[in-house]
Amino acid sequence: MQPLRIGLVGAGGRARAFDRVISSRDDVTIAAVCDVDLYDDGVLDEAANALDADEAYRDYCAMLVDADLDAVVIGTPMHLHATQAIAALERDLHVLSEVPAGVGIGECRDLVAAAERSAGSYMLAENYIYMRQNRHVEQLVEAGLFGDIYYAEAEYLHELKALSDATPWRRVWSRDRPGVTYPTHCLGPVLRWFGDDRIDQVACAGAGTDYSDGHGDSAARWASTVLLGRTERGRLVKVRYDATSERPHAMDNYQLQGTTGAYESARAPGEHNKIWLDAFEEAESSHDYAWLDLAELDQHLPSEWTDPPAAVADAGHGGGDFFVCSAFLDAVQAGESPPIDVHAAMDMTLPGLASIESARNDGAWTGVPNSRCW
Ligand SMILES: NC(=O)c1ccc[n+]([C@@H]2O[C@H](COP(=O)([O-])OP(=O)(O)OC[C@H]3O[C@@H](n4cnc5c(N)ncnc54)[C@H](O)[C@@H]3O)[C@@H](O)[C@H]2O)c1
Repeated sequence: MQPLRIGLVGAGGRARAFDRVISSRDDVTIAAVCDVDLYDDGVLDEAANALDADEAYRDYCAMLVDADLDAVVIGTPMHLHATQAIAALERDLHVLSEVPAGVGIGECRDLVAAAERSAGSYMLAENYIYMRQNRHVEQLVEAGLFGDIYYAEAEYLHELKALSDATPWRRVWSRDRPGVTYPTHCLGPVLRWFGDDRIDQVACAGAGTDYSDGHGDSAARWASTVLLGRTERGRLVKVRYDATSERPHAMDNYQLQGTTGAYESARAPGEHNKIWLDAFEEAESSHDYAWLDLAELDQHLPSEWTDPPAAVADAGHGGGDFFVCSAFLDAVQAGESPPIDVHAAMDMTLPGLASIESARNDGAWTGVPNSRCW
């Protein structure tokens, strides 16, 4: 079999997160890298050398036209994801795109149409789904141990002021707009746990301070933003997003509530992921409710985490970067639909875009489009 030929765009940034997975496989090769070298710091040459790529491009369209590719990995700033994915899908290339899928509902609609027309497949690289503790909870949910699930919370609390200073696109698309503008790390795992369900309404409000970073006066106006989402099946989810406030990071916080189980992830290093499952309750009175450490339930780990490949230990985001890229490559090689297809990507992206409208309307409940009806 010929190796799958990949082009990495944004090769000086996040697209590099997947280079270790790709280089660990015989069935894939990095044929080309592309970067405009936005910050003029030589990242394109450095990436081409480090990745041993055959070709290097500054122009993405030139890479699509001239390089002989089967797939692209998109790791550029978020306002480019949808446009670049559409351009690749129109050439029937497979696409693994960084999060979020898009920054506007119109371009998301165009992306869905392009994915449906294309012979290439589309996958969103939502890596938090693949973290060990999140897959572990997913396995317990699938075993029915949480009963009927009706509530979840998730938070992304990551002080990024220095990064926003260095990467201006973050200020425009992620920080200065109201709403939860970076929702997929929160919604990805939660929607997996909810199963066949989607958020169809959101209400959102934010609060902040008068902090100014010298790049406009809105730097912290929307510092902490909370999205409430209602699902088609009547569940409730609360998401808090904050990339500005001064506090220790807490980038993968989750809570889940079902009729026979509850979960609260660790909020700080050294804490345990806490789980209560009625099926494992040892107390005589069912009202004593003692937490277990999730690690005590390792017999319910999903298979990929029982004996993970050595490269997982070096992969970013708790190994999530390894497994999300592997899932894409495995699906493409098998000719199957990838596990986070364009509609799953929309289910994680569109509530955030609708939350911007809600926040601008003083927190009014706002409908979230269903991409399957477009
Ligand atoms: N999944 C995750 O855990 C995770 C983590 C960090 C960032 N991200 C996402 O990844 C994306 C990139 O983030 P980053 O931190 O790497 O950003 P960055 O600004 O550090 O890097 C982006 C790279 O893209 C290049 N670029 C910009 N415009 C380009 C164009 N038109 N054509 C080709 N290259 C271009 C830039 O020169 C730069 O090297 C963002 O959308 C972000 O939301 C995801």
